[in-house]
Amino acid sequence: MTDPRDVLSPAISAAIGRALGPEHEGADPVLRPSQYADVQANAALALAKRVGTSPREVAARVVAELDDLPATVEISGPGFLNITFDDVWVASLLGGLAADPRLGVPTQEAQVVPIDYSAPNVAKEMHVGHLRTTVVGDALARTLEHLGHRVVRQNHIGDWGTPFGMLIEHLLAVGEGSEEALLLESDPNAFYQAARAEFDGDEDFATRSRARVVALQAGDQETLRLWAELVELSRHYFNRIYSTLGVTLTDDDLAGESTYNADLAGICDELEAKGLATVSDGALCVFLEGHTGREGKPVPLIIRKSDGGYGYATTDLATIRHRVERLGADRCLYVIGAPQALHLEMVWETARLAGWLPDDVEVVHVKIGNVLGEDRKILRTRSGAPLRLMALLEEAQANARREVDSTRPELAEEVRAAIAPVVGIGAVKYADLSVAHDSEYVFDLDRMLAFTGNTGPYLQYAAARIHSIFRSAGVVPSHAAPIVLGEPAERALALQLLRFGTVVAEVGDTLEPHRLCTYLFDLAQDFSAFYEHCPVLRAATPQLRESRLSLAGLTLAVLVQGLDLLGIETPEQM
Ligand code: ARG
Repeated sequence: MTDPRDVLSPAISAAIGRALGPEHEGADPVLRPSQYADVQANAALALAKRVGTSPREVAARVVAELDDLPATVEISGPGFLNITFDDVWVASLLGGLAADPRLGVPTQEAQVVPIDYSAPNVAKEMHVGHLRTTVVGDALARTLEHLGHRVVRQNHIGDWGTPFGMLIEHLLAVGEGSEEALLLESDPNAFYQAARAEFDGDEDFATRSRARVVALQAGDQETLRLWAELVELSRHYFNRIYSTLGVTLTDDDLAGESTYNADLAGICDELEAKGLATVSDGALCVFLEGHTGREGKPVPLIIRKSDGGYGYATTDLATIRHRVERLGADRCLYVIGAPQALHLEMVWETARLAGWLPDDVEVVHVKIGNVLGEDRKILRTRSGAPLRLMALLEEAQANARREVDSTRPELAEEVRAAIAPVVGIGAVKYADLSVAHDSEYVFDLDRMLAFTGNTGPYLQYAAARIHSIFRSAGVVPSHAAPIVLGEPAERALALQLLRFGTVVAEVGDTLEPHRLCTYLFDLAQDFSAFYEHCPVLRAATPQLRESRLSLAGLTLAVLVQGLDLLGIETPEQM
């Protein structure tokens, strides 16, 4: 615990109890940032109403009971407490932070947390929605792991279903290993579209495709081999995107729809036996209370279609059962599109009724909002042509390269070539992370790549600038020297640094990476203000120089660690 407010809060709560009676103990002191002090406590107004005196009187009684706080407390306005921490105390907390390899981030009691994210579809292009779940899911995985949890990544790829008949027949038509087949690795939509065209235009092909689906479901060996070939080629495509993005997903995390094939019949049987599912119009359905559509008609969760096939809902019932029973989940995250909220609600409710999802297992839909084009419609195409994610990522890197070439022409060619992908990809990822994950936003490469504002490049630049201070000093970055605090800008930076652990823990609780982005952005701005007002290399005394270098080094460590939790790299120069 290094955030001084974490010490302050319980101290004030206890004082409130002593001043106003035990029934008020534990009252929230309502801490707010203040321009007149480090923090302001605003509880007196609400408490005054309850105890029937004036807020100022309440404030005075609470202050009288506050003992031994390493801070000065002043009553202001109608009854606020303006609290300014003692410099020496803040400096000693900062010393503790600097000596802590975890930089104040707590280690929480370990939970098993399966995270369902990314989940692209075989033989289809990943779209920007997949990009967003991949980036947000990966940041959550990294953060929860860092907080001490056992994260189990689950990449629920779409690798099963009726289109596979058509896709397999197309693979045979173009020839395994042919150039057209290899499109699956580079431009999967082109492969899919060609298969579709053949299906729509050629009656024989369509008939063969339908027969293929039957053979696939019946487990025909040769058909399964061809199917596996399609999945394998798509896997290469996914992995190329993942390595370009620097996400932590590996082949070991693949748990596609097909992995649950053997469970689906049993799931249906069990729901039927438990009286939860009934046949309606030939389909096996679960009807849940409160889920009604137009004219009050109940909306079913279809778990077996009238043709005997299983669908998306059935496999998702299998995912929850698997994650609870086999993986031992304490908390399950589904990082998937916001429009799928109803689907998940119905699946979870069914699982609860079936006894597959115990009350003490938490399930969370981390809702991913739509990514829009400049026309504010869902971003699907660019200038008419289908949107290719790889092309988009390449464009981001090329733009970053142009920017670095023009701002840092003096850097060696290899150095600029290495910086460009870090900045380009960092920009795209940060844009996904810095807005609330459930909000919509407009995809705008120019804005993402801007060096000013709340962007990835701005934060990377802040870190690179600290590296350059150390380069000028001729030493490697460190934060070992004792830090003394005098100037207001130094204190502000110190207090911000002390909040890091609290913010990371908050991201783990709320599953909102944008809070960490906001924090890092504030930190970078506090550093800028510090650097502007407090000379570092030309500080008045050698001790002060060391202290300020240490403060810069600690800021760098927090920036690098924070960005790393978001899955963003920091270049040493840019
Ligand atoms: N493959 C699906 C899609 O592209 C997403 C799957 C999300 N995960 C899940 N367990 N339903 O929309």
